[in-house]
Amino acid sequence: MMEQVEQLKGQALAEVKAVRDLKQLDELRLKYLGRKGQIKAILRSLGQLPAEQRPQAGQRVNQATQEVQAALESRQAELQRQAEEAKVHSESIDVTLPGRRPAQGVFHPLTQIVNEIIEIFAGLGFDVVTGPEIESDYYNFEALNIPKDHPARDMQDTFYLSEDTVLRTHTSPVQVRYMEVHKPPVRIVSPGRVYRNETADASHLPMFSQVEGLLVDEGIHFGHFKGVLQAFARQMFSPETEVRFRPSFFPFTEPSAEMDIRFGERGDWLEIMGAGMVDPEVFRHVDYDSEKYTGFAFGMGCERIAMLKYGIEDIRLLYDNDVRILEQFR
Ligand code: PHE
Repeated sequence: MMEQVEQLKGQALAEVKAVRDLKQLDELRLKYLGRKGQIKAILRSLGQLPAEQRPQAGQRVNQATQEVQAALESRQAELQRQAEEAKVHSESIDVTLPGRRPAQGVFHPLTQIVNEIIEIFAGLGFDVVTGPEIESDYYNFEALNIPKDHPARDMQDTFYLSEDTVLRTHTSPVQVRYMEVHKPPVRIVSPGRVYRNETADASHLPMFSQVEGLLVDEGIHFGHFKGVLQAFARQMFSPETEVRFRPSFFPFTEPSAEMDIRFGERGDWLEIMGAGMVDPEVFRHVDYDSEKYTGFAFGMGCERIAMLKYGIEDIRLLYDNDVRILEQFR
């Protein structure tokens, strides 16, 4: 009997030690200490012993029960701790992994150029104003001294929305809109989109961007005009940039000029804007006294400037939305 208890206890302790998870441990608890467990069975059989042996035998069984119970408890604590450690380990972050940089948005190269142009003129005291892209025939042409059926209209064929509404062909109508409601002195630049009936190729698009400029005051002469535009070119390109003014024609400036800059290794002259002294006929449309006020105006194509500055050879690349191109201008 005593031997049987010792043997059972030894077996139970060995099995508890070997158990690998909590579920198996529970099964062992039942196997030995449960209501139908093996140690309980011995306890029940004590009645068959002679009365004088019973107390000692009972004591042995109780002791064995306590030992097995203690072993079960400590093994349970151990298994729980191990399970928790494994969990913490599996959820931990490897801080030594190199980070993944999130994609960072930047302004489109064309927007960067427009902002740069505007900033330069803002530095010279110009205000920034905008006007509508859907424009009346009057502001786009008439008030700029381009009468209906006049051959000058051929310079800028456009999209007509109705008999007298067009997608503006240039930002020059903003000059008229601004002067209608402001008295001189006037110093403005006006960025925006313009439209022309053109077939897209490497240097043309039916939609592109311009920045218009207008300065009007008493005593403004051609020297101011050249000085301001040269200052602009030198800030935009480089402090040594040479500029040249070539005679040209626009119905709303007199005299008119194209401004060229000397550019690149070969020192080619490249046109960057149309400009001129405001034609008195434009002042007449906005009720400015052309005996008192004079001024100059200019308009530049932003894509062209972006292409020069960034060495882009096809204007369409600026509108393709190809990140491989755009990524290069961060
Ligand atoms: N509006 C003209 C164009 O788009 C450019 C220009 C603006 C010329 C202002 C003279 C003065 O071609």
